[in-house]
Amino acid sequence: MQVVLDYLKRNQARFVAELCEFLRFPSVSAQPQHKQDLRACADWLAQHCRQIGLEAKVCPTTGHPIVVAKTKFVKNSRKPHFMVYGHYDIQPPDPLDLWESPPFEPRIAGRSLFARGSTDNKGQHFAHLKAVEAYLKTGTPLPCDLTFVIEGEEEVGSANLAKFLKSHRRELACDAIVVSDTGMPHSDCPALTHALRGIIAFEITLRGPSRDLHSGIFGGAVDNPAMALSQLLGKLRDKNGRIAIPGFYDDVAPLTAYERSELSRLPTNDAELRKLLGVKKLFGERGFTPIEQRSARPTFEINGLTSGYQGEGSKTIVPAWARAKITCRLVPDQNPARIRKVVCNYLKKICPPSVRLEIEAGHGAEAYLVSPKSPQARAALRALHQAFNRKPVLMREGGSIPIVNDFKKVLGADTLLLGLGLPEDNAHSPNEKFDLDCFENGQRMSAFLWQELSRSA
Ligand code: BES
Ligand code: MN
Repeated sequence: MQVVLDYLKRNQARFVAELCEFLRFPSVSAQPQHKQDLRACADWLAQHCRQIGLEAKVCPTTGHPIVVAKTKFVKNSRKPHFMVYGHYDIQPPDPLDLWESPPFEPRIAGRSLFARGSTDNKGQHFAHLKAVEAYLKTGTPLPCDLTFVIEGEEEVGSANLAKFLKSHRRELACDAIVVSDTGMPHSDCPALTHALRGIIAFEITLRGPSRDLHSGIFGGAVDNPAMALSQLLGKLRDKNGRIAIPGFYDDVAPLTAYERSELSRLPTNDAELRKLLGVKKLFGERGFTPIEQRSARPTFEINGLTSGYQGEGSKTIVPAWARAKITCRLVPDQNPARIRKVVCNYLKKICPPSVRLEIEAGHGAEAYLVSPKSPQARAALRALHQAFNRKPVLMREGGSIPIVNDFKKVLGADTLLLGLGLPEDNAHSPNEKFDLDCFENGQRMSAFLWQELSRSA
């Protein structure tokens, strides 16, 4: 094991340079103009996996390709088999003018590596690849077989990977899935995440006049879709931060007293959070702490709001339409299909007759919750402890990784969420970065993890 750790230590500079190469691909899955960039990124990644000694293939889908890379399995070795999941697709880098350096020209400042996709998720799964490289290049036997599945559609709902799992369920059958695509509270506070929120996405469009109208000639006699949409959305949350949609909270699993006391032990500070986020005041559902609001309570968020004239100066119109992009975060035991229904029904009920309502459904996934006390979870905690030299904490995260539910349903295996992202990493925001200490300790964590997990299997 020491040779593996020494190899990691010796090769950090090269690893960082390689990660920078990976980060140069603008693999934005949501934008069709980047289709070729995703393909090129997948090819690069597969080639890199071969270079470090894995067998790799690029599996085409009707969307973006999936990279599958494996250690060379010895038939009937009876070794445990683990899967490492990650995603090479990234969120759009916009707004570009807020980046201090271009999002696809990686920049290092101190121990931070700035680039879109650095923390979410290229840097995080790359740490696992480097740990495995260390085993393979030093001739240290791995105590398990490993398969890396790195997809290109996580940020748009993982629809094709879900199908791929079903058609490759034998090949991918495994004892557990390891995912580093979440966070940790601080660079010296490692964490095991045992819950994620679910999600439903949809778009609401209100249509008014058949075209934009002169607001002086006609304004006052027709409804304004932008105003109608604002009023509609305004009815959906009350002043206590509760979602005012009947039935929305019906199935929400309440936090137990034990969980609440565990969450309250996390090293967070409301004033610091306020500063980090640049808000005047925190706001959330009354009766819950910010950490509870962010991880264990459902939300209704407007992600985008569009209507009327957006150019410079003024234009006096009544816009023909207004649109909101919405996602709700869900918690254990909310059912995505049911929540979609209660939201749609309520919108239809309160929509005024002066506009036409269209609702377009997007992706959806239920929340994820596993025991933090299973032998595998304990093994993961030991690996974190050894790698970071600090006692890890348990947490729930507010983000979503929809595919982990399919891992459980299709492969019957639990997912261990060992995140390496920091709250200040700016995931999905301008100036995204990855902490190079987290990168290095993440590699060490992965190196220890295969030992600990294989022992627990
Ligand atoms: N890595 C995140 C998920 C995440 C971030 C989980 C932080 C926990 C803490 C992932 O890449 C992501 O952003 N997922 C999307 C999923 C959605 C597009 C279906 C999300 O949560 O918005
Ligand atoms: Mn993401």
